[in-house]
Amino acid sequence: MNNFIWYNPTKLYFGKGQIKKLNYELKNYQKVLLVYGGGSIKKISLYEDVIEILKDNEKSFFELSGVEPNPKIKTVRKGIEIVKTQKIDLILAIGGGSTIDTAKAIAVGSVSQNDILDLLKNKYIQKEGIAIGTVLTLSATGSEMNPRCVISDDEAKLKLGLGIWEVPATYPKFSICDPTYTLTVPKNQTINGVVDIISHTLEQYFNRNENNIIGERFAETLIKTMIDIGPKLINDLQNYQLRETMMICGTLAWNGLLRGLNNNGDWASHQIEHALSAVYDIAHGEGLAIVIPAWMEYCAEKDPSKFVVFAKNIFNIKLENKTDQEIAFEGIKAFKMFLKKIGAPQSMKDYKIKNVNIDALVEKTMLGRKTIGQYILLDANDVKKILNIIF
Ligand code: NZQ
Ligand code: ZN
Repeated sequence: MNNFIWYNPTKLYFGKGQIKKLNYELKNYQKVLLVYGGGSIKKISLYEDVIEILKDNEKSFFELSGVEPNPKIKTVRKGIEIVKTQKIDLILAIGGGSTIDTAKAIAVGSVSQNDILDLLKNKYIQKEGIAIGTVLTLSATGSEMNPRCVISDDEAKLKLGLGIWEVPATYPKFSICDPTYTLTVPKNQTINGVVDIISHTLEQYFNRNENNIIGERFAETLIKTMIDIGPKLINDLQNYQLRETMMICGTLAWNGLLRGLNNNGDWASHQIEHALSAVYDIAHGEGLAIVIPAWMEYCAEKDPSKFVVFAKNIFNIKLENKTDQEIAFEGIKAFKMFLKKIGAPQSMKDYKIKNVNIDALVEKTMLGRKTIGQYILLDANDVKKILNIIF
């Protein structure tokens, strides 16, 4: 195994009715900035419940609404302005990954000497920030228990990220994860969530670590659980038990433990996908469903070894009388069939995009790096070939 640090300061309140713990958590703060998206939290009366708790606890509060999916830097700037002028001491994000990520960027952007864009470009590291709390309404990103955030620079059409795993600034201090709030997530967003959770696990599963039995089995458990419950949930969106299982899988998939065990992992598919959603504003989960199979096919040609383990342990592919390549590609085929079964998109061709600039996408993927990935190191030329598969 590799040496690793596993640090995670987020207190997780998991389960039905945990919103009442907000009463306790609020005691350390006076002025709250509520951050939320386009209005889904008002349809499930979560908004009213939070406002009532804030009023009961005599907290003054301000609001930043309208956070976009693939959140934009201009929204982060609006939040920074409110935090600075109103002297906010808690940013409370209520929503999915986009809302939580926005809160994180506001948290560090409001106290930094440097511009938020420079922080997102990782020119400077901001080690302190305003406290963040979250109430999760969509299971997917794991943002509720990790330090990462992804924000779109709309002008440059780039998706940029910040947050360091050993630094507390962008970890939520607490996250309230009640699966009840996810019962209203529509089918397409649920599919995206299933894909994102599996993809985070896969990214870490494909690594070059040795003697990594626990990291491998833990990842397989998460992937198999999601492959089991995903199709059931898509046909039964109001099922609390399935929502509950999905929620804990989402948090565990990307909260640092798997990352530590798996020596960080590969993440090339995410880097390619971030370029796609930066340029075409497609949902993160949709982009991943298209990129990952192409990444798999490309990389299995170069080295099928881990794909053989994947095929055998996830999809029970029989190994007798087959080459490694054959086994690997049977596993990838089974994974593609799973994605099809849940209704995930399969090709960028479905988006009917004209005048695709592959070279620009390659540049936005590489972001100045010579190579990306870990299981297979990919250079710009490799990324170009993968992009050519999906368009
Ligand atoms: O804006 P509202 O009205 O709230 O609607 C949202 C939004 O339209 C809706 N929604 C959320 N909860 C709902 C609901 N609709 C009905 N009922 C509910 N309970 O769902 C839509 C999508 O929300 P969004 O927050 O964008 O989805 P997600 O959680 O998938 O977040 C995606 C963003 O996270 C980034 C992605 O790049 C993307 O920008 N990522 C963040 C990561 C992290 N912080 O660690 C890692 C990921 O790999 C990812 O890159
Ligand atoms: Zn993701």
